[in-house]
Amino acid sequence: MSLPVNIDDFRRATRRRLPRIVFDFLEGGALDEITLRSNITDLAALRLRQSVMSDVSGIDLSTTVLGQTLRTPVLISPMGLLSLFHRDADVALARAARAAGTVFVHSAWSGAPLQKVAAAAPGAVWCQAAIWPDQRLVDQHLDRAEEADVPVLVLAGDVAVSSKRERDLRNGFTMQARPALRGVLNAATKPRWVANFLFGPKITFGDQSIDGRAMNIREMGEFMETENDAVTWDDVIRIRKRWRGKLAIKGVMTAQDARRAVDVGVDAIFVSNHGGRQFDAQPSTVSALPEIVQAVDGQAEVLVDGGIRRGSDIVKVRALGATAGLIGRPAVYGLVHSGEAGVTAVLDILRDETATALAFTGNITLNALSTSALSTSALAPGTNDAYPRARHTLQTP
Ligand SMILES: Cc1cc2nc3c(=O)[nH]c(=O)nc-3n(C[C@H](O)[C@H](O)[C@H](O)COP(=O)(O)O)c2cc1C
Repeated sequence: MSLPVNIDDFRRATRRRLPRIVFDFLEGGALDEITLRSNITDLAALRLRQSVMSDVSGIDLSTTVLGQTLRTPVLISPMGLLSLFHRDADVALARAARAAGTVFVHSAWSGAPLQKVAAAAPGAVWCQAAIWPDQRLVDQHLDRAEEADVPVLVLAGDVAVSSKRERDLRNGFTMQARPALRGVLNAATKPRWVANFLFGPKITFGDQSIDGRAMNIREMGEFMETENDAVTWDDVIRIRKRWRGKLAIKGVMTAQDARRAVDVGVDAIFVSNHGGRQFDAQPSTVSALPEIVQAVDGQAEVLVDGGIRRGSDIVKVRALGATAGLIGRPAVYGLVHSGEAGVTAVLDILRDETATALAFTGNITLNALSTSALSTSALAPGTNDAYPRARHTLQTP
């Protein structure tokens, strides 16, 4: 089998290796998956301007994100339940991020304890929390993050309600100790995954209970259902007062919410639609980015994820004013392919592609980018200067 040369090669290898039920859990989104697809197609529709004879020797991709200097300008977004994909998932992601000189965000719904993941990759792990109904749980999470010397807390703002993921419903994907029977039957054709899953270490969750007791996967499923649909900005204010490190709020998709977040003192706005997994009636993240950058007006950093599959996507979001871009699914494709080495390969590919795209724009640093690097032919007339015209092709990516 030939080596993957791009992210989509890794994606196809992942599809071959995972049982359908597990691949669909990774790949799928809410309802018709329109938002999920538009994350990718809107980024692709945005074009960069080529500049020649500009001496692009000495490209430097290093960038500072929330006080940390990163060698690779691609971070890894928080993802829960990664133990389904690899037995050392979070540790492998964190180590690969550290080796590449970037950051991995540990999910609040991870099966691997934050302490363990942070210790495996000192300085390269941020932590994600949610505002759970039981305030003690939130506080416990913050304490744990502080003890682990985590510099940045990412607060998930888009999980007050859960969505309908129709692939999971059709496949019978539930949070049980073992996947649903239909999934197992299909899994018979994926012996490596089945061996790991059935005979590997039991998947438990220790960070989510008040008494520190490790929950099993079914209990975790019940816990995940206890969304706090009564969350307000007052909860963010309380956390802001309590958390001494940097604070980012994830799931901001409008200028109005971004302003509100700045007003309550967050350090970063994390533009995200959860990779299209939550609310399927909203725009792509790249199309929401310009109004948010404008509204924030330099008072906070702007991070963005959703649909980043090429280094040129990193150049595009930087040109639109984001400090950094993050990847979700692509990191898992690397993980499924070959564990930590696969994640390293994914980050290497994205870094190399970023350097090449940057050079073609005639720049040698990401800081030099501005909206002038974007081709006006891809901009919607009469609106925000840098508003990418959405050209939804509605093909499965
Ligand atoms: C399998 C999976 C699990 C996820 N779990 C979480 C999570 O626990 N917390 C969170 O804030 N976002 C979660 N997300 C969303 C990601 O953080 C990120 O926003 C999204 O994957 C980015 O889009 P991309 O996959 O197109 O790069 C998850 C995404 C996937 C694919």
